[in-house]
Amino acid sequence: MKRVVLAFSGGLDTSCAVRWLKDQFGLEVICFSAFLGEVKDKERLRKRAKAAGASKVIIEDLKDEFARDFILPTLWAHARYEGKYPLATAIGRPLIVRHLVRIAQEEKAEFVAHGCTGKGNDQVRFEVGVRTLDPGLKIIAPLRQWEFKSREEEIDYAQLNDIPIEATKASPYSIDRNIWGVSIEAGILEDPWREPPEDAYVMTRALNRVLKKPKYLEIEFEKGIPVRLNGVSKTMVQMIESLNAIAGAYGVGRFDQIENRLVGIKSREIYEAPAAEVLLTAHTEIEGMVMDREFLHFKKLLSEKYAELVYYGLWFSPLKNALDQFFASNQHRVTGKVRIKLDHGHAVCVGRASSYSLYSEKLATYSKKDTFDRKSAEGFMKIWGLPYEGLGHGR
Ligand code: ARG
Repeated sequence: MKRVVLAFSGGLDTSCAVRWLKDQFGLEVICFSAFLGEVKDKERLRKRAKAAGASKVIIEDLKDEFARDFILPTLWAHARYEGKYPLATAIGRPLIVRHLVRIAQEEKAEFVAHGCTGKGNDQVRFEVGVRTLDPGLKIIAPLRQWEFKSREEEIDYAQLNDIPIEATKASPYSIDRNIWGVSIEAGILEDPWREPPEDAYVMTRALNRVLKKPKYLEIEFEKGIPVRLNGVSKTMVQMIESLNAIAGAYGVGRFDQIENRLVGIKSREIYEAPAAEVLLTAHTEIEGMVMDREFLHFKKLLSEKYAELVYYGLWFSPLKNALDQFFASNQHRVTGKVRIKLDHGHAVCVGRASSYSLYSEKLATYSKKDTFDRKSAEGFMKIWGLPYEGLGHGR
């Protein structure tokens, strides 16, 4: 029997997809679930997949690999799509794809399948990713192909086929979560004028419920990697999980955004990414102290491009890889510590220190300690302004 490996989340869509793939194509269905930090019960997930008709269920905890190979490069790139969204969902997909392809090859499956809808970015990330890594695999997207037009029809199908569906009332939102952040859309969020109701948020506290007393964090970087929090050594995953809890309690890292999807639709989405917000702020601050102006200004342009490539599903592309090397090229200097103050929804840098610092108090000071050669400033301006002399005449 021919095989398909399905990226299985355990929700209604992918549960129905298991049965549908069997019935429609006569395939043996292997379910693959990757844990990137969402709260899920392994055994329950396994049972659900089996009950839906899977012949085999593979569940892997990939948080460390996610942090090392996907979050760290994104952090170094200071990547935020359209200036806000730190790309949690967008970087989770290529990791799932990497393993979906590996498993398909190991299991000698001819097909892979995913549960993405036909109008989002995630289908692009899955399919372009799969085709980049293994163009021989055939891709099935049940949600684009099947006949169900609503959730209700899917529920009917599930009940008819004895597919277990969550007894609890499903969330009115579509939620994707990993340790780098949560993406929340649909339901009443689709009205862009309406303030997101508090129950839509899952990782952060509302401003009227945040801890009142500001908190200071000290984050230490070694060669670009955040390694210590308040003096305590942490793995990347521990660092991110701690920061999500601590900064989430201050309401840090909420975004409400109208974004431009690759498929041309504008969508309203809310995001929560407390750890990402803190780490992006901290890393940007320390890098700003150890690097020169030209590098920093040019990097900003590349950060924007990088965020687009990642958002557009081009994680495995040559330009994205080349940009990774650019961002990695100076990380040996990004060593030192940053003091962050958490206060009413904000994470602000209030101090930084590094042995690679290019900041010189003697040059910056307006006090007696000043050593800056003001005399040379005069000559500098003459030469700098030379090309423009008289150019404004008559304006
Ligand atoms: N808009 C985000 C992106 O394209 C998140 C997509 C998934 N969101 C969700 N709520 N299921 O990366």
